[in-house]
Amino acid sequence: MTRRPMIAGNWKMHKLQSEAVELFNGIKDGLRDYTIEQLPEVVVAPVFTSISSVVAQKTECGCGCKGQKIKVAAQNCYWETQGAFTGEVSVEMAKDAGCELIIIGHSERRQYFSETDEMINKKAKAILNNGLVPIICCGETLEQREHGVTDAHITSQIQKALEGITTEDASKIVIAYEPIWAIGTGKTCDADEANRVIKMIRNVVKDLYNTEVADAVRILYGGSVKPETIEEQMSKSDIDGALVGGASLKADSFVKIVLGARSKVNA
Ligand code: PGA
Repeated sequence: MTRRPMIAGNWKMHKLQSEAVELFNGIKDGLRDYTIEQLPEVVVAPVFTSISSVVAQKTECGCGCKGQKIKVAAQNCYWETQGAFTGEVSVEMAKDAGCELIIIGHSERRQYFSETDEMINKKAKAILNNGLVPIICCGETLEQREHGVTDAHITSQIQKALEGITTEDASKIVIAYEPIWAIGTGKTCDADEANRVIKMIRNVVKDLYNTEVADAVRILYGGSVKPETIEEQMSKSDIDGALVGGASLKADSFVKIVLGARSKVNA
């Protein structure tokens, strides 16, 4: 089975509205000469306040894409529909603003905002119930890696995130393996090691569901992905794309990463 590769840019807490619009349009320009079929699935995740402005730029670029060449994701959500949850944004609200995917369980949210696996599981279910795609992040700390508990930790994160999710929904999920020690540090995880962990994650999905679901789920690598690293990463059997932080903040480097992932498009 062929999985459509995905390159997702996580803009984190960067860019005012005008800057976000400029970045989006820069990416759109850089991809103008390619049709949707020639590209991986391209996703950008601006801050909530910039989502509407960015979505307004999702117009036909002249290639027949109907503005669908670049999808917009939220960086977080809350699982309740509405109510007295000051500061939170529901999945319906993110969808209403034009988001098609939502990143959940990023290590920064787990670390700085005390997000637990149980919360991530509730968010994943709410996202799937609304017909959106969750990008579920997982990954180990340097300490966990040095103590040899990487696989056990990630297995537990995935099992808890997917608890109670149906087989039908499970195949739509995107997982991002992001070793925490590689995020924003310039230290990329060795591509063979990233592929080994991603294969291990695929096996966890297979044990929870079946081979078809494991073959359908896209698993991205994240952590200091750059234009110089993407081709080697994409050459590995199980790496289906990348979740990109720092290098997604400049149109030219993000476009290079997107184009560098074309080896697996229609492969
Ligand atoms: P980075 O971030 O590419 O800057 O390492 C990746 C991420 O946190 O998703």
